[in-house]
Amino acid sequence: MADLKVTLAGIPLRNPFLLASGIWGESGSSLAGAYAAGAGGVITKSIGREPRPGYPNPTVVTFDQWGFLNAMGLPNPGIESYPEEVATARKSGALVIGSVFGPDAAEFADLAGRMADLGVAGLELNLSCPHAEGLGSEVGQDPADVEEITRAVVRAVKIPVIVKLTPNTSDPAGLAEAAERAGAAAVSAINTLRALAIDVRLRRPTLAHGLGGLSGSAIKPIGVACVWQIFERVKIPVIGVGGIMTAEDALEYIMAGARAVEVGTAVAFKGIRVFGDLVRDLGRLLDELGIASVNDAVGMAHRVPA
Ligand code: SIN
Repeated sequence: MADLKVTLAGIPLRNPFLLASGIWGESGSSLAGAYAAGAGGVITKSIGREPRPGYPNPTVVTFDQWGFLNAMGLPNPGIESYPEEVATARKSGALVIGSVFGPDAAEFADLAGRMADLGVAGLELNLSCPHAEGLGSEVGQDPADVEEITRAVVRAVKIPVIVKLTPNTSDPAGLAEAAERAGAAAVSAINTLRALAIDVRLRRPTLAHGLGGLSGSAIKPIGVACVWQIFERVKIPVIGVGGIMTAEDALEYIMAGARAVEVGTAVAFKGIRVFGDLVRDLGRLLDELGIASVNDAVGMAHRVPA
């Protein structure tokens, strides 16, 4: 059986599948459940300084073709209330990566330090939520901001810092280079694409917030393209995210250059058991293709002449 173990920025993972931030609740027991179901690691909901209720409903539109348009509004209990959840997830043996968001470098650094104190294995900086005023991609679209925020966090913590990048830019690899310059241990690409649905009967946007972020199968080729471009421009590992429903989707990202992948929308459509299925199917697929390990497949599509 092919070897599925990977090391991501110094973090050993039993397989390359990570629970993406925000999709399976924020509680310690839901994170523990995802790990028990087979995920190689779990990423918390993005946590901010203060509790945030998020936007009013409706916050999600479901598309037939395995996708969501969401604008939840980064709801979270605030960092003060989060230690117990991380403790519960860690006690189950889960490998936990803490996701944080903030409006500027100082707040990111403060939150990152407090999340690191909870014993998480790494941090993911949400510089990519596409619809939160003054947060997410609004502070993550400019390479100079990405560099400043990443540098402040890297100085504040001793654990690997992963920067989650936005696809809502003309040059995602430029953002990855900024993160690398500032000392990021890895980048993840992509978060959702800014999108809008209109309810023609109500004559207004379907989501209460208006603009949202599109996830699911439709965005996979965009994510794979971003990973491909980033892999060619940085040396730090890349995590692929966006529309991974099957092992073959994951292997596309891996061959484009991803060392690990995050799974989000598939969990909502297929249930948490999707992790067990993905692990089994990726092993079988690698065997079928005669590829001995995930590591061997990373970036493979760049090495095969067209
Ligand atoms: C949300 O909470 O609205 C989504 C978060 C994100 O897109 O990063």
